Amino acid sequence: MAREPVTIQPPEGKLGVLIPGMGAVATTFIAGVEAIRRGLGKPFGSLTQMATIRLGKRTEGRSPKIKDFVPLADLKDLVFAGWDIFPDNAYEAAVKAGVLEKTLLDELRDFLEQIVPMPAVFDPAYVRRLNGPNLKQGRTLMDKAEALMEDIRNFQKATGAKRLVMIWCGSTEVYHKPSAVHQTIEAFEEGLKRNDPEIAPSQVYAYVALKMGIPFANGAPNLTNDIPALIELAKVNNVPHCGKDFKTGQTYMKTIIAPGLKARMLGVRGWFSTNILGNRDGEVLDDPGSFRTKEESKLSVLDYILQPHLYPELYQDLCHIVRINYYPPRGDAKEGWDNIDIFGWLGYPMQIKINFLCRDSILAAPLVLDLVLFLDLAQRAGMRGIQEWLSFYFKSPMTAPELYPEHDLFIQLMKLKNTLRWMRGEDLITHLGLEYYD
Ligand SMILES: NC(=O)c1ccc[n+]([C@@H]2O[C@H](COP(=O)([O-])OP(=O)(O)OC[C@H]3O[C@@H](n4cnc5c(N)ncnc54)[C@H](O)[C@@H]3O)[C@@H](O)[C@H]2O)c1
Repeated sequence: MAREPVTIQPPEGKLGVLIPGMGAVATTFIAGVEAIRRGLGKPFGSLTQMATIRLGKRTEGRSPKIKDFVPLADLKDLVFAGWDIFPDNAYEAAVKAGVLEKTLLDELRDFLEQIVPMPAVFDPAYVRRLNGPNLKQGRTLMDKAEALMEDIRNFQKATGAKRLVMIWCGSTEVYHKPSAVHQTIEAFEEGLKRNDPEIAPSQVYAYVALKMGIPFANGAPNLTNDIPALIELAKVNNVPHCGKDFKTGQTYMKTIIAPGLKARMLGVRGWFSTNILGNRDGEVLDDPGSFRTKEESKLSVLDYILQPHLYPELYQDLCHIVRINYYPPRGDAKEGWDNIDIFGWLGYPMQIKINFLCRDSILAAPLVLDLVLFLDLAQRAGMRGIQEWLSFYFKSPMTAPELYPEHDLFIQLMKLKNTLRWMRGEDLITHLGLEYYD
């Protein structure tokens, strides 16, 4: 043992999962968890359920499953609640999302129908393509925040959930920069009381979670909890949180391939990425305001991985373009194309073409599960503030203000696993390996 392990409270009782936005991702996650609990499917794509973690030297042969190494909540203990601007229950919403087969959803119907979205805090100025009737009434944003708190207390009473985690699976909000109201807790709370238009609906949910001591994750690229006021609130209240934007699909591929090209000092002249997508998310992203938020999140990845300031001959002036086209016939079955113009020895050009036919919500659902279980673990381990070790799951990972984010998927994975080793007092793994040859 390298050090004393961190004290982690046991995962006793039910864990309540609170989800603003009960669309494709949320319902694929919820239905998936129930299908797995009933033995109708396997949790492929989830580290907490499938992955092992190597401990000690390679000669020791110790590689337990992550879920046997750290005390995670059991799937049987998860209970769910959500909010949406549409009143469809989780069964109806899942059928409309069209991700999972109707035959599977019909088997789960009794369970899914019981999950009915509570009225949402919504502002059409932030998601221009949607309008729904299931909305919270209230004079101010603070009144609405208090109504959300009441929803949460009622859910807890009804289910007996001992602990809670909230994860934003709502639509992508229009692009906003942090402003004065986002700078301090006091300014933010004042802003809630006077309906400051700079406060996005997702920020009302994040505020409520952090105020109540509930860990929070943001699956969309909106600012949400990535503002000084809420970062401070999480610290003061000892709550772990993280974001932003689930890393699935094209960006996930990018963060696998770009580190590989850089590792071999191959240059990149251009990277053109385009997608067709036909689900509700695609419809929302068809609005330039929402797309701008997504674009910022997708574009930053290459800069951080390739570090053009360190390698100007290889990566300066790289032409990086990302497009998303709303194409209804495809539904959730997105198709992405990448054309990468690279160069090698003496500057000779080469090309890579990628055609990824993925299913967005199938890739996102296991990330939701892992984030819920890891945030609950972090809270029981007394960790607070931004959880950078969960960068693995995000396109725009939140970090301390003085740090640049780490985007390389393999560095992110090492960081995640080393954090788990650290929690349990195991040696961190450096991959140095010289000791085997002494
Ligand atoms: N699927 C992926 O691979 C992936 C990857 C990264 C990010 N995301 C993001 O995750 C989010 C969810 O994706 P999705 O495919 O499920 O989208 P979706 O459109 O199917 O679901 C989003 C839901 O949020 C609801 N909503 C919007 N504003 C709300 C509010 N203020 N309160 C409560 N509900 C609200 C909408 O009515 C909708 O039902 C999107 O922001 C998307 O960009 C998804």
